[in-house]
Amino acid sequence: MSIISRLAADKNLSDSELKALLETNEYDDELCETADIIRRTWYGADVYIRGLIEFTNYCKNDCFYCGIRRSNKNAERYRLSRGEILSRCAEGYGLGFRTFVLQGGEDPYYTDERVCRIVSEIRRKYPDCAITLSIGEKPRESYKAYFDAGADRYLLRHETADNAHYSRLHPSGMSLENRKRCLFDLKDIGYQVGSGFMVGSPYQTTENLISDLRFLKELGPHMIGIGPYITHKDTPFKDKKSGSLELTLRLISILRLMFPTALIPATTALGTIHPLGREMGLKAGANVVMPNLSPVSVRKKYELYENKICTGEEAAECRGCLERRVISAGYKIVVDRGDNVEIRD
Ligand code: 5AD
Ligand code: FES
Repeated sequence: MSIISRLAADKNLSDSELKALLETNEYDDELCETADIIRRTWYGADVYIRGLIEFTNYCKNDCFYCGIRRSNKNAERYRLSRGEILSRCAEGYGLGFRTFVLQGGEDPYYTDERVCRIVSEIRRKYPDCAITLSIGEKPRESYKAYFDAGADRYLLRHETADNAHYSRLHPSGMSLENRKRCLFDLKDIGYQVGSGFMVGSPYQTTENLISDLRFLKELGPHMIGIGPYITHKDTPFKDKKSGSLELTLRLISILRLMFPTALIPATTALGTIHPLGREMGLKAGANVVMPNLSPVSVRKKYELYENKICTGEEAAECRGCLERRVISAGYKIVVDRGDNVEIRD
């Protein structure tokens, strides 16, 4: 049995086998073809869309890689009001979105009460939509409150599953242990959980990536988001180089093989490092795209990394642009919540 068939058959590959897959391009064609067969077995040619609403770029954290880190005094900060968020949902619904992703920095202004109020209003107005939160590390009780208010999914990338690497990417107040606690709490509460990591983040080794894959196996997420690390000039990592297209695509295929039913986005970061990055991501096994639904006036300000695409476009333009891109890659966008097949009734 080839190494790729064994990966797809959920056999436990050794570290040295995973290392061989990750470090050479020898397997790339077979990986990509197998990943596409598997994605089509579970999801056909369907691609799910998520309307991304970046509602605050205030953040109390100071992650070394991130452009909206607290210490970046050049970031122009903004918050969207409840009314603004709801009006983005209204526009998104009209454009065929059945998932809204509320993403923001860790902003204490949005107390649990405020978050719950926003979530419950979206829930009431759009009973047929999924509500995804991506607002960082919180106590279990907060996650439970958002869930009870109507949130059904949560995105929190673990960023790296190696303790030493984690502490090279984050200031001392943050820990991998708490990150993991959050992810297991979210799962336990009943959320569909998304995790993931950056590819080519500073100091990342192949061994770190193997730990990421093994950690994801332990967590069993419904969604896995990865994208290349991209430099931002106002961070301590301003001189570090960005992650590669090739390795990101290879990892998308490996993830598709290891997690056949996972929802895997072709991310904006992938589209930023190469004009056809998202199309290539879809062909490598991704089955989700996340058009930007934030008001155009704030888009440039949500700058996690440099040269982020889609910052000048209206929501309808992004939606249309992605429709064409998805078709050109050989797939089709569907109007659907896009739940993981394993949890559909
Ligand atoms: N490059 C690429 N991705 C980044 N993220 C944060 N900063 C960067 C960067 N400089 C990713 C992190 C985070 C997600 C919202 O964006 O993985 O979890
Ligand atoms: Fe936003 Fe193409 S996806 S403009």
